[in-house]
Amino acid sequence: MNLILLGLPGAGKGTQAARITDQYNIPHISTGDMFRAAMKNKTELGLQAKTYMDAGDLVPDEVTNGIVKERLLQDDAKRGFLLDGYPRTLNQARALQQALASSNRRLHHVLYIKVPKEILMERLTGRFMCSNCGATYHKVTNPPKVEGTCDKCGAHDFYQREDDKPETVENRINVNEEQTEVLAKYYGEQGLVREIDGERHPKEVFEDIKDILK
Ligand code: AP5
Ligand code: MG
Repeated sequence: MNLILLGLPGAGKGTQAARITDQYNIPHISTGDMFRAAMKNKTELGLQAKTYMDAGDLVPDEVTNGIVKERLLQDDAKRGFLLDGYPRTLNQARALQQALASSNRRLHHVLYIKVPKEILMERLTGRFMCSNCGATYHKVTNPPKVEGTCDKCGAHDFYQREDDKPETVENRINVNEEQTEVLAKYYGEQGLVREIDGERHPKEVFEDIKDILK
């Protein structure tokens, strides 16, 4: 299954991606995660991405398209993939289409998680992650079962993302708003978009996704 997760920052793409990849055993390809890993390792790519990410702006298409194209050629992505946060512009969507066509692949669904803009700020500024395994939590809506202990791996260290500061979040939402609609239209015309109400509990959102992927 070749899938895209579309949605504004904080819509719950990463949260659902974790469930989807567990259930369907396909790799989770998040451009945001790839850039964050590169930044942590201080690679050339990380240095290129940092200024844009810190401001909540988009990393230039030529950089982003290159890393995704390469990633999709790896063996594990040949049996299917879940793209999270890519494509984010029409240019990226076209580059993806070319990359897939050149290896005789196509997209099956674009899962568009819709959440009203007003609640995204609260979701992002309350988000924190496990430093060991990356599991995502929210201080109000999705805290660990035992305070201070990761449900998934038992670690006790957590961190917040640099770009989850209120002023950066606002810019990220604005930067992505128009493009997300453009992409929903582009994939809608190809009959690929499955709209999902993302304003419910993550479990219920996932039930909808499973129905679509049946
Ligand atoms: P990226 O890492 O992709 O961030 P994003 O798109 O801004 O989305 P987020 O990861 O913030 O949100 P999410 O939808 O994954 O929500 P989550 O599940 O964590 O990109 C970061 C940056 O990298 C970009 O700004 C850009 O600079 C660069 N970049 C990446 N891709 C790029 C590209 N293709 N082109 C150019 N630049 C690119 O959930 C959020 C919170 O809400 C969590 O606390 C969670 O617990 C909670 N939550 C989740 N679901 C629910 C629910 N149903 N109910 C209540 N709470 C919920
Ligand atoms: Mg994410």
